[in-house]
Amino acid sequence: MIAGEVHVLDAYCPHLGANMAIGGVVRGNCLECPFHKWQFSGENGACTKVPYSSGSVPAAAVKKWICHEVNHFIFVWYHAEGDEPSWYIQSRKELEGGAWRFQGRTELLAACHIQVPFLSLYSMAPIRMTVRRYLTFLFPHSHAYIGVSYV
Ligand code: FES
Repeated sequence: MIAGEVHVLDAYCPHLGANMAIGGVVRGNCLECPFHKWQFSGENGACTKVPYSSGSVPAAAVKKWICHEVNHFIFVWYHAEGDEPSWYIQSRKELEGGAWRFQGRTELLAACHIQVPFLSLYSMAPIRMTVRRYLTFLFPHSHAYIGVSYV
């Protein structure tokens, strides 16, 4: 039975290292490895079933990642030192209710230092298309790639 809750586990099986992202199958609340069919709990990553054995191998666990489902996205928390999340992305009723939706995407190449778009582009969003000329004038020998998505 599937609980309808998102779980994110590491892709590599602790048994012999198979990539469960290729051929792995969700069975109930577990992820089943495609090689030898060991199953790992979505709740905590522990091995819950070894098909050719009567028991399981709880010590053979897959890392479970902290994830958060909000605004129709699934976010996975990563911290270099393993700290717990210090904040969560807030739910937006406009996104959850469908009032805001994806309208398209714009990309442009700006010839500038990588920091310049973040410092200036957002304040100049209405005149975005002239930004490239401006930045090319200031920084003629460097490039940054900018992608802007609209909702
Ligand atoms: S490699 Fe995953 S069960 Fe053997």
